[in-house]
This record gives sequence, C-alpha cells and structure tokens, in this order.
Amino acid sequence: MKESQKPTLVIIVLVIALIACISLFFASKIPSENSPVGFILPPGDATAGQRTFAQLNCIQCHSVAGVTFQDSETVTSDLMVPLGGALHKVKTYGQLATAIIHPSESILKADDRYVDTSGNSLMPDYTAVMTVQQMTNIITFLQEHYDIVKPAYDPQGMGYPYY
Ligand code: HEC
Repeated sequence: MKESQKPTLVIIVLVIALIACISLFFASKIPSENSPVGFILPPGDATAGQRTFAQLNCIQCHSVAGVTFQDSETVTSDLMVPLGGALHKVKTYGQLATAIIHPSESILKADDRYVDTSGNSLMPDYTAVMTVQQMTNIITFLQEHYDIVKPAYDPQGMGYPYY
C-alpha cells in the first residue's frame, strides 16, 4: 500500500467503527419483547386493598408494617414474610405485581426457606381467583406501607432511589 493511502484507510475504519457504535446505541434502546416498559396499572383503592388482603388470606403468611388486621388467623411461624416497612430500594408496582401474580419469579426466591424442592415459591397461585381490580387495590395498599430510606453510606455515589 502506498504511504499516501494510509490516512484514507484510517478514516474509513473510523467511519465504520462510528456507524457500528451508533447502531449498537439505537439497538440497545429498543425494549425487548418481555420488557415492562409501558406497563401502567390503573389507580387502586388502598382501603379496599387492605380488606381484600385479609379476605384472600394473605395474612396467613404476611404481616404488613404498621397494620393490625382484625380477627386475623395469622400463623406466626418461620414462614412469615413481613411486607412493607423501611427499605433501601424502591419497591415498584411492577415488582409487587410480579411478586403477587408470579411469585416464583419474585426477588425473594434466593431464600431457600421460601421455596419448595423444585425452587418454586411456597406462595399460592392467585391468578385464577384474584381480579385485576383486587390486585391493583392490594398493590396500592402495600405501596403505602413501604418507606424508602436513604442509607448514610453510598460508596459508589449512585444516588437514590435505586431501581
Ligand atoms: C402460604 C403462604 C403465603 C400466602 C397465603 C401468601 N403469600 Fe405472599 N409470599 C409467601 C412467600 C413464602 C413469599 C416469599 C417467596 C417469594 O417471593 O415468592 C411471599 C412473597 C410475597 C411478596 C414479595 C415480598 C418481597 O419482599 O419481595 C408479596 C408482595 C406477597 N407475597 C404478597 C402476597 C399477597 C398479596 C397475598 C394474598 C393474595 C399473599 N402474598 C399470600 C407466602 C405466602
């Protein structure tokens, strides 16, 4: 190759690299098929949610921070999973909806007290018995009982809230 052709070659390589970077950037912006982007629940009613929470017997395995349920047949055992309270992480309604309608996908599955031998959540499947309205009401009720706490130590300076 002639010495004079070298700069042209460098420019061509740079342009190709630039096009590749731009394409990658746009490709990463397209949500995947299973993305939660665009998932927006209708507003719920927290008071009705609290009632449904007791009616559907969620109180058998869950306590909710700051809430006392009347006539609760609560089994106080190792299995009790407290909901609500102070968290260092946002509990989005996407996460709550997933925990309720697809518990085996839930974030707590890493804890082996809460899963059976095949790794599925011990939480029952409510998809055939719960209406969407009941679910949105329960989520609104639960969200009211989560407090986001900003920890004092934030080494990576990531800022809060985390998602
Ligand atoms: C038989 C016990 C049981 C019943 C009844 C039950 N759950 Fe659960 N639930 C669990 C267990 C065990 C977990 C933890 C494992 C997991 O995340 O799936 C859990 C997890 C959850 C979580 C996620 C908690 C977190 O911090 O990530 C939510 C929210 C929840 N349940 C809501 C409900 C609601 C609403 C009902 C009633 C409609 C209900 N549960 C009924 C056992 C139960």
